[in-house]
Amino acid sequence: MSVRIVLGAQFGDEAKGKIADFMSASARYVVRSAGGPNTGHTIVLPEGPVVLHQLACGVLRHGVTGISGPGMVIQPFKLEEELQGLEKRGLLRGEVVLSDRAHVILPLHEIEDVWEDELRGRHRPAASLGTTRSGIGPAYADRAGRFGIRLAELSRPAVLRERLELLYATKTHLTGLPPIDEVLGRLVEVGGRLAAYIRPTEQLLWDAVARGESVLLEGAQSALLDLDFGTYPYVTSSHPTSAGALLGSGIPPTELDDVVGVAKAYSTRVGAGPFPTEDTGERGEFLRRVGGERGATTGRPRRCGWLDLVLLRYAARLNGFTSLAITKVDVLGGLERIPVCVRYQMPDGSTVHDALPTSADDLGRAEPVYEQLPGWPEFHERLKERIRREGATALPSDLRRYLDFIEQETGVAVEYVGYGAHRDETVWLGPPSARPRPASMTAWSG
Ligand code: GDP
Ligand code: IMO
Ligand code: MG
Repeated sequence: MSVRIVLGAQFGDEAKGKIADFMSASARYVVRSAGGPNTGHTIVLPEGPVVLHQLACGVLRHGVTGISGPGMVIQPFKLEEELQGLEKRGLLRGEVVLSDRAHVILPLHEIEDVWEDELRGRHRPAASLGTTRSGIGPAYADRAGRFGIRLAELSRPAVLRERLELLYATKTHLTGLPPIDEVLGRLVEVGGRLAAYIRPTEQLLWDAVARGESVLLEGAQSALLDLDFGTYPYVTSSHPTSAGALLGSGIPPTELDDVVGVAKAYSTRVGAGPFPTEDTGERGEFLRRVGGERGATTGRPRRCGWLDLVLLRYAARLNGFTSLAITKVDVLGGLERIPVCVRYQMPDGSTVHDALPTSADDLGRAEPVYEQLPGWPEFHERLKERIRREGATALPSDLRRYLDFIEQETGVAVEYVGYGAHRDETVWLGPPSARPRPASMTAWSG
C-alpha cells in the first residue's frame, strides 16, 4: 500500500520500463506523468519485446490500470496505433486511462520541432539538440503559453476549432501546415475513438490512495534531461524528477513513500549535450554492441561511456532516492577492469563531487577522475539460471563489490539489479533498510 516513483537517474534509457514493469507486479495503478512519444520503454515479455511510448507499463498486466497522466503531451494518432498494436498481439491486459488534462501534440508541433532544431543547427551546428522530433518542446511551450489543446477538448468541436484557430495564429513562421479543417476533422474522429479512455485521472488516484491502493509513478526521460536541473539547453521540456512525477500526476508530496532511481551499470546518452564519461573508442563501441545501445524510439546509436558517480550523487540528492536499481550488469560481464568516475577535475583546479555545473559548457570541460574496479565473469545462461533460482546470493562477488561501491559512494542502497533484458531478469536485493551499510572501501582500487 504505497505511492512509489521509479525514475531514470542518468540521461534516459536506463531500463526504467523493465524495472517499472517488475515493480508493477505489486501495483494497482501505474502512472506516466511526463513526456510523450519521445519515450521508448522496452519490456521483453515471454511473447516478445514490447516498446511502450505513451502508455504506462501497467497496461500489460491483468488487474492493473495504466494511466497516461495530466503532465504528459500526447500524440493521439500514435497512441491509438500503440493501443492497436498491443491489442493485436493480445498484450493489452490491464485497463487504459488517459487524463483529460494531458496536452495534445498536433502535426504542427512535430513540424515546429524539426524547424526549431534545424534553426539551432544553422545558428551553430553544436547547438542542435538532436530531439526525437516528436513535437515535445513545442507542445510543452504552447502549454506554458496557454495556447495548448487538451484531450478534454477533443470531444468539443466548437471549442476545439476556436483553440486551433488561435494556435495557428501563433505559427506564422511555419510553412506547410495541414489546413485547420483537416486537422479538426481528424482530431474529432480520433477523440471519438479514444473517448472511452479519457477521464479526470487525479480524482481516480486520490480515491485510490485514500483506499490504500498501491500507485507506481513510472518516470520517462531522466533526471539529467530535466528542464531546470538537467544539462540545459540539452534537455527535454518536462520535469522527469520525483517532484515532476508528483506534479504530473496530481498526487500530493505528503503521500509519497519512496523513490527508486534507475541507473545502468555504465552510461549512455542519445542526442547532443555534454557527457563527461563518454568513451568514443573501442570500449565505448563494445558497450554499444553488447548492450544493444540503439534508441528504442528513433533507432539512433546511443553514445556510451562509464558510470558517473558525480551525476548519480547529484540525481540522488535532487530526487531523494530511497533506493537504486542498477541495470544491465550483464553487459559488463567479462571485462577485467571497469572504470567508474568518482569526481571531476575542473579546468580552474577545483573538483566536483556531487553537483552538476550549471553551464553545459563547463560540464563539457569537466575531466572525469576514474577508479578502476575489478570486473566480474560473463553472464552465461547457467549463472542467470542460478540467480533466478537462488536470488541475489548467486550474484558474482566482484559484482557485489561494485554494487557496494555504488552504495558507499552515493549513500543510497541498491534494491534491484537487472542482469538481462527479459522480464524475469531482475533480482530484488531486499528492502533497503534491512541491509547494513558497507564498510568504507575508499582504499580499494584495481
Ligand atoms: P528505458 O527507456 O529506460 O525504459 O530503457 P530502453 O527500453 O530505452 O532501453 C533499455 C534497453 O536495455 C532495452 O533494449 C531493454 O530491453 C534492455 N535491457 C533492459 N534491462 C536490461 C538488462 O538488465 N540487461 C540487458 N542486457 N539489457 C537490458
Ligand atoms: P526514455 O523515457 C533518452 C532526449 C533526446 C534529445 C533530448 C530532447 O525512453 O528514457 P525531446 O524529443 O524530448 O525534445 O528531445 O532528450 N530524450 C531521450 N533520451 N531516452 C528518452 O526517453 C528520451 N526522451 C528524450 O534524444 O537529446
Ligand atoms: Mg528509452
